[in-house]
Parts: sequence; structure tokens; C-alpha cells
Amino acid sequence: MKKHYNPHDRSVPQSFDEEFKTPGYLPKSAALISVADPETGIPNIMPLTAWGWLNRDPFLIGVSICVKEYNRNYYVRGTYELMRKSMDFTLNIPTEKLRDKITRSAEMSRAKDPKVDKFNALEWTALPGKRIKSPHIAECPLNFECEVRAIINMGSHDLFMGEVVGVCSDGEIVKEETIHGNDHITMKREDGSLLTLEWSTLMKEKKH
Ligand SMILES: Cc1cc2nc3c(=O)[nH]c(=O)nc-3n(C[C@H](O)[C@H](O)[C@H](O)COP(=O)(O)O)c2cc1C
Repeated sequence: MKKHYNPHDRSVPQSFDEEFKTPGYLPKSAALISVADPETGIPNIMPLTAWGWLNRDPFLIGVSICVKEYNRNYYVRGTYELMRKSMDFTLNIPTEKLRDKITRSAEMSRAKDPKVDKFNALEWTALPGKRIKSPHIAECPLNFECEVRAIINMGSHDLFMGEVVGVCSDGEIVKEETIHGNDHITMKREDGSLLTLEWSTLMKEKKH
């Protein structure tokens, strides 16, 4: 089988309008960090796709945040300073019904406008953290409370390793299963109804 090959040349954008040359075609899904300024208590939100499961014992989640200035998309995030100050954060897992608000949350930035209040602008609810200072986003069905254990600079981004100290969900988790490559988590809500979150662990092929 003949493959197409793209060499990666490590070049970076030289101006606000220039893009990275080699594309980042890797499967990913969006989650949201919520973190509060420990001095003022003001919370912020940042959507990200650079996150993942790192370790089971201790239970570690990694999130990676841009710390260098390249172009209009890659600049030092306001969230970065907040994470360094608070040393904790919540990783909130959304579902696709929050798609439009996730997009809007990325169009606002604490780095560009220190007064921005994304919770208010998006009409989302900040629930107080149970074991950390940072809040949860109530509208997301799963919220992982993390304490920062290590920060590693990788170049453009810093990797924050967060140890999970608590998980909040819309109901008691009653079932976890994998069916034909799709993971399912079922939770029982206070009113007795069941909610299942489903995601695919494999990409789909679509031939034309
Ligand atoms: C779907 C999506 C994924 C993103 N993933 C990341 C990411 O993994 N890391 C990152 O630093 N920024 C990421 N961003 C960009 C930030 O969310 C965006 O710059 C945000 O406005 C920063 O807000 P802040 O300055 O208030 O922290 C992503 C944006 C979108 C829409």
C-alpha cells in the first residue's frame, strides 16, 4: 500500500496571521478547565483538547496549556497564570449539546481581557469545589477535581499533571461498560432517571 508522507520541519509561525505548517491531525475531544484566582476567587474557563488519562495509581490527568506567543491562536493563556497560582483545577467533561458555548468560551480570553467573566457570559453555573479551591461547571455531567503535582515545560505548552482528588457526576455511577469499542458510563440521577454518556474509542472511516 502506498502512503503519503509529510516530513515535519519544526518551523513555527513568524507572525500573528501565519499558521503552523505541519497540521496536528490527531484524534482528540474537547474538555473544559475551570480554575479560580486564589486571591480574588474569580473563576475562569478554558476549553482544551490537549488532555488525557496518564496514570491509575495515583490517578493522574494531564492538561497542556500554551505558554508561548506564536500567532492569533497560540498565545500565553490567562488560565496558565491562574493554574500556577491556585495549583488546582477541575477538568469538566462536556457533551455535544454544549458545542456552541464551548466555541464561544474559546473566543473569550482572560489573557486578552483580564475582566472577562466567562461563567456569566455563557450563563454557566460555578459550583464550589469539594476538596479544591477551583469550581466545577455544573452544566458538564462529569467533573474531575485535580491538585497539581508537577508542571513540565515541553516547548510551546506546559504539561500540568493533576492528581484526581474527587469526581463529581450528575448522578450515582451505576454502570461502566465497553460495547463494540464504545465506552458507556451510566448514572442514576436524583429523580431516578438514568443518563448514559457514550464515546467512541476508535475513529470511523468514511469512504467516498
Ligand atoms: C476546541 C478547542 C480546543 C483547545 N485546546 C487547547 C489546548 O489544548 N491548550 C491550550 O492551551 N489552548 C487550547 N485552546 C485555546 C484556548 O481555549 C483559548 O485560547 C482560550 O481563549 C484561552 O482562554 P484564557 O486566556 O482565558 O485562558 C482550545 C480552543 C478550542 C476551541
